[in-house]
Amino acid sequence: MISSIFLLSTILVLSAAAPAAELRGYVVYTGAASPSNLALKEAIINRMSGQLLRTYRHGFSGFAARLSPQEATFISMQPGVVSVFEDTYLKLLTTRSWGFLASLEGSYANPAYPYACSSDIVVGFIDSGIWPESESFRPASSAPPPVGWNGTCQTSKDFNMSSCNGKIVGARFYVGESARDVEGHGSHVASTAAGMEVKASYYGLAAGTARGGSESARIAVYKACLPLFGCLSSAILSAFDDAIRDGVNVISVSVGSTQLTPLDFTEDPIAIGAFHATERGILVVCAGGNSGPARSSIKNDAPWILTVAASTMDRNFETNVVLAGANKTIKGRSIGFSKLSRSPIYPLTTGEAAVDKNRQAARECHLDSLKASKVKGKIVVCETSASTTYLSDQRAEIVSKGGVGMVVVSDTESRVPGFYGDFPITIVSLEEANKLMTYLNTTRNPMGTILGTVTVGHQKPAPEVAFFSSRGPSMVSGNIIKASFILPDITAPGVAILAAWTGNDSSIATPTGRAPPAYIIISGTSMACPHISGVAANVRSAVPTLTAAGVKSAIMTTAVSTNNLGTAITTDEGDWATPYDIGAGILQPTRALRPGLIYDTTADEYLQFLCYHGYNTTTVKSISRTAARSFRCPAGGANRDLISSLNYPSI
Ligand SMILES: *[C@@H]1O[C@H](CO)[C@@H](O)[C@H](O)[C@H]1NC(C)=O
Ligand SMILES: *[C@@H]1O[C@H](CO)[C@@H](O)[C@H](O)[C@H]1NC(C)=O
Ligand SMILES: *[C@@H]1O[C@H](CO)[C@@H](O)[C@H](O)[C@H]1NC(C)=O
Ligand SMILES: *[C@@H]1O[C@H](CO)[C@@H](O)[C@H](O)[C@H]1NC(C)=O
Ligand SMILES: *[C@@H]1O[C@H](CO)[C@@H](O)[C@H](O)[C@H]1NC(C)=O
Ligand SMILES: *[C@@H]1O[C@H](CO)[C@@H](O)[C@H](O)[C@H]1NC(C)=O
Repeated sequence: MISSIFLLSTILVLSAAAPAAELRGYVVYTGAASPSNLALKEAIINRMSGQLLRTYRHGFSGFAARLSPQEATFISMQPGVVSVFEDTYLKLLTTRSWGFLASLEGSYANPAYPYACSSDIVVGFIDSGIWPESESFRPASSAPPPVGWNGTCQTSKDFNMSSCNGKIVGARFYVGESARDVEGHGSHVASTAAGMEVKASYYGLAAGTARGGSESARIAVYKACLPLFGCLSSAILSAFDDAIRDGVNVISVSVGSTQLTPLDFTEDPIAIGAFHATERGILVVCAGGNSGPARSSIKNDAPWILTVAASTMDRNFETNVVLAGANKTIKGRSIGFSKLSRSPIYPLTTGEAAVDKNRQAARECHLDSLKASKVKGKIVVCETSASTTYLSDQRAEIVSKGGVGMVVVSDTESRVPGFYGDFPITIVSLEEANKLMTYLNTTRNPMGTILGTVTVGHQKPAPEVAFFSSRGPSMVSGNIIKASFILPDITAPGVAILAAWTGNDSSIATPTGRAPPAYIIISGTSMACPHISGVAANVRSAVPTLTAAGVKSAIMTTAVSTNNLGTAITTDEGDWATPYDIGAGILQPTRALRPGLIYDTTADEYLQFLCYHGYNTTTVKSISRTAARSFRCPAGGANRDLISSLNYPSI
């Protein structure tokens, strides 16, 4: 004690000398340390130059503060401190999807799905908040929140008590001015997992019934993310801390690190929060990341997390090009509102033919690469090479030079329909582009038009692995381990998912003159994750005795790896998907309610995982609140070969 007070004064001297600009946000994680210990640390912090920003005391312990790097280093060496890391931002990484999943389940599917889950299940969303007025969040019933629910509705200027209802039973915020979603992502994700049935479309596209996987589940909102910035690590930890105290049953996290190399488990706010939630029986479901198809690009890879990959479904959005004279249609993909005539009356040209100075730049329609006189009134075909070509630049170039439409050639962009508003844009594959180029090369006055987008169903094969979906195996601390564990865990639809948005987002493309959309179509593992969270709520309700690992096992062991042709699921390049692409396979929502064998990973196995990963007994015990007094790491220390011996459902 005496020595620590002595050292404390040393820091005070240090920080007095340090210019204020050097202070940065840090998270100090002290594992499952007792609150009395924590109080001492708070006292230390309060007396230092650093400002205390947040404290964690319910699910785990620690705090976030503004510190100088020297102070951070000093604190990291104190007994009981597991880690100190800089407070950085993580990234926010229909509906046909439930009907599509039911069609894959075939005779297994319960026609009455969505399963009538008990209304006692609460799903917590760590995201950008919620737009409470959305139709998707009307209450299923006027039943009071579940007995034992300990959450709260944190009100403020634009989020009053009536924003919480029988559907939204809790709302807290750690960033911004209220729990209201001004981004859209949080509302999209929550409505996919637990939204009510709604007739919805995106200006007529994807028209049908949008609903969440679990209509009776309740929603608890933990807002940790803001538009442009992303999600602050220290806010994510506060969200977990509160969600654990509030008594949620499932936590859904469509957020991930932007770093190329994975964060160490003790410096990853999602891994830390999820570990403590799992210890208390809460299942944590996370998006696996959008960094595919590169190997070992998987995010949120701690073994206690249910990590979700994204697939396509059997629906596509076609925006086709019709060529004059040739009686030919070139297939393109995008979501837009072309106002061009349906007759092919617009001259077609290539960027190359409209070159101003630099030929290569012109081929790709870079900014300031085209001659206005050669573009005006025409539809321009633009190629795409490296990641240095941005569709927004290409569009700006064509628009500014008076073009009437744009056809972009890209094998990657053409796989996921993006939306581009009312300037006619379609994206074509190389194969389709070849047909188009042949026409251009062999036709005297090539003419064409870009049709409006149409929704096309019954696509086969489906699902396919979405190209952006991050792949395994898990990389631990920057090394590809020899006997790695398989990740992702499970796959769900994550391409072109229609779900709720904010009510006033004027940045989203609309047909001219129309109000902002209440529902939009977007893609990402962010969209796949809440499909699993919704089903996890149903599984919790159907088999209340399952532990978090048991629910994870039920969802994984009932998944299948066949598509709607009855053959093995493929990637969108046509290769057979491996467990490093799809984990246990595609979600089967009804079968998951009737699992057979359950692999119930015990908390001790997760602790052993930490041991094999290189943490010593002291560190593991300070992280875990359930570690028995007698717990010892197995002899031999770090042993990456043993990591795969975890009782893991996918093995
Ligand atoms: C709460 O907010 C809604 C709109 O967000 C408004 O219509 C309602 O009048 C408010 N209720 C109270 C009690 O202020
Ligand atoms: C419920 O929340 C209160 C504070 O809001 C806290 O003191 C209490 O410990 C919580 N109960 C449980 C069971 O976590
Ligand atoms: C265009 O092709 C379709 C079939 O692809 C055919 O039915 C139609 O008669 C053709 N029209 C002309 C003008 O050649
Ligand atoms: C079209 O012509 C250009 C040169 O004029 C050539 O480079 C290209 O390969 C041709 N493409 C097709 C599909 O014929
Ligand atoms: C949308 O509503 C939110 C909350 O009421 C407000 O903060 C935001 O400025 C609005 N955005 C626009 C574009 O009107
Ligand atoms: C355990 O590891 C921590 C952090 O690496 C270290 O500070 C501590 O001395 C170790 N304890 C033992 C008993 O080896």
